[in-house]
Amino acid sequence: MQAEKNVLIFDSGVGGLSVFKNIYAHLPHLNYIYLFDNEGYPYGELDSEVLLERVSRLVGKMVTEHNIDLVVIACNTASTIVLPRLRQELKIPVVGVVPAIKPAAMISTKAIGLIATPATINRHYTHNLIKEFAPQSKVHLLGSTRLVTMAEDKLRGNPVNCDELKEILSPLINQIDVAVLGCTHFPLLKYEMQGVLGKDVVLIDSGEAIAVRVSRLLNQNVIDSELTTSGYSIYSSATPWEGVALNLGLAEFGFNPVRTFPLPGV
Ligand code: DGL
Repeated sequence: MQAEKNVLIFDSGVGGLSVFKNIYAHLPHLNYIYLFDNEGYPYGELDSEVLLERVSRLVGKMVTEHNIDLVVIACNTASTIVLPRLRQELKIPVVGVVPAIKPAAMISTKAIGLIATPATINRHYTHNLIKEFAPQSKVHLLGSTRLVTMAEDKLRGNPVNCDELKEILSPLINQIDVAVLGCTHFPLLKYEMQGVLGKDVVLIDSGEAIAVRVSRLLNQNVIDSELTTSGYSIYSSATPWEGVALNLGLAEFGFNPVRTFPLPGV
């Protein structure tokens, strides 16, 4: 029997779990390694060169040591800059997560709100995406690192302060009909964001599209998770998140508790 494929999922923090959840729902039989670079977090505040070096070093190390077949950069902030370099350095497919501007433009009749990290908002990549796929749409850009920390805090069990959320999202309230969640942390705040933006605003993230892309690239069919599941391990670049909190976060996504492995010497 052929060995199952090994997939690396990478993010600065726990946001990539939102993408992992989608991939796992399609392909529960593969072997997954989730690496979160909590030492470099938050990526939205990192200098581009520093980010490029970190991601290339960490991902390269994991790919070599764990015999990885496919990498998912489950982070918009990283994907909007590191994909060309990783694709040059690695001999395996590298899937990135970038803001879902194209599907947003297809359904928006009023205006789109792109909510992402400050770095993603400033990237040429993002501006080119808008030029290419939403040339006729009005796109409001909103960059916030505070939203990323709010999402991480929520997974630690701290309630979201809806007044603060309202204040941050205020430039978009009543202005848009579609919001693009351009950071993988934000699906964690989807319920609260929907409450603030209003139920008529469509919130779009990239998780499902990424899962379909991974299935195609690995030439895998969707598997019935009732019949077969395989394992996943979680690694972190610094002292991991409090184990209890991480496992609360995993439970939120329907995953079983795990032990986190520190990644030595990075
Ligand atoms: N989850 C990341 C993203 O999709 C970034 C969060 C951060 O580290 O600033 O952009």
